[in-house]
Amino acid sequence: MDKWEKALLEEDPNLDIRIWPAVGKAENITFAVCWNQPKNELKKYPNLKGIISLGAGVNHLIGDPTIPKHLKICRIVSPSLTQQMTTYVTGAALNYQRKFYKYYRQQQKKVWQRHSHTLAENLTVGVMGLGKLGTPVARQLETLGFRVKGWSNSPKNLKNIKTYVGQGALNDFLSGIQVLICLLPLTPKTEGILDLDLFKKLDHPAYIINTARGEHLVEEDLIYALDRGWIEGATLDVFSKEPLPEYHPFWNREQIVITPHIASITYPKKVASQVIDNYKRALSGIPLLNEVDREKGY
Ligand code: NDP
Ligand code: OXD
Repeated sequence: MDKWEKALLEEDPNLDIRIWPAVGKAENITFAVCWNQPKNELKKYPNLKGIISLGAGVNHLIGDPTIPKHLKICRIVSPSLTQQMTTYVTGAALNYQRKFYKYYRQQQKKVWQRHSHTLAENLTVGVMGLGKLGTPVARQLETLGFRVKGWSNSPKNLKNIKTYVGQGALNDFLSGIQVLICLLPLTPKTEGILDLDLFKKLDHPAYIINTARGEHLVEEDLIYALDRGWIEGATLDVFSKEPLPEYHPFWNREQIVITPHIASITYPKKVASQVIDNYKRALSGIPLLNEVDREKGY
């Protein structure tokens, strides 16, 4: 937490920051800045006014039933996270479309062999989740010439992007998709959504990019779909168990690109002012920025 402490104090030297577990008297704590906090911890602070997640995702907080219901929870939304996610996902989609992964393997063996590729205008990309990260990702891919579809809970109006709303439209959304990107929040409704049933509905062979949470993906279903040829490959940044265990079958699959949860990194200096702004808002009792709807779960 040193970098966080330094960045926050540079922004406001008057802050009194305690690094868990050395927090001193529980009643002095009024705001919590959290990532993967232990359960039963946040109920110990009687004067807590708000909680901020150190990232965009809040499943570690929403999924903790021991956090008192009245506490407001907010999250990080930042141009830096958006920029990083957009470049990561675009890079992964281009790696697949332009077959860089094949040329990389060929180079190891000094093989000069051309592969035809599907032009962007003939490749349909689907983005699940059109929020702070999914929308700019969809827009960027559309700008690059891909055919883009998007899926969300509420209606969106995005130029040249066909959008679909809710569970009832999921099948229509999935139909024809060759590259599927998951940027959903992890909630009971989205856990395990990337399963065999969904893979069957894509255009085969399809490619999967999951940068949201590992628990969206049913890992054994991906292996099965790869073996059946329904899925050609995947780029995965997140896993249900992180770090990905050494024995995990994904490591030995050439078709899977694995990155260690780095798609968008929260840099303390970039977001310290946002954390402090929300801390001050919580103390003053005014609405927090980027507050999470605890009912909806994101
Ligand atoms: P947002 O909350 O801004 O967007 C979530 C989107 O998902 C919204 O469009 C929402 O619809 C849609 N959605 C939620 N539930 C459903 C559902 N059941 N059916 C259809 N659509 C649904 O989140 P962000 O874009 O900021 O982040 C997305 C996720 O990315 C985070 O929750 C986090 O887990 C992950 N992440 C991963 C990082 C990494 O480094 N790998 C870094 C940062 C985030 P609507 O707009 O209608 O509400
Ligand atoms: C986040 C993440 O949610 O890093 O910000 O996964």
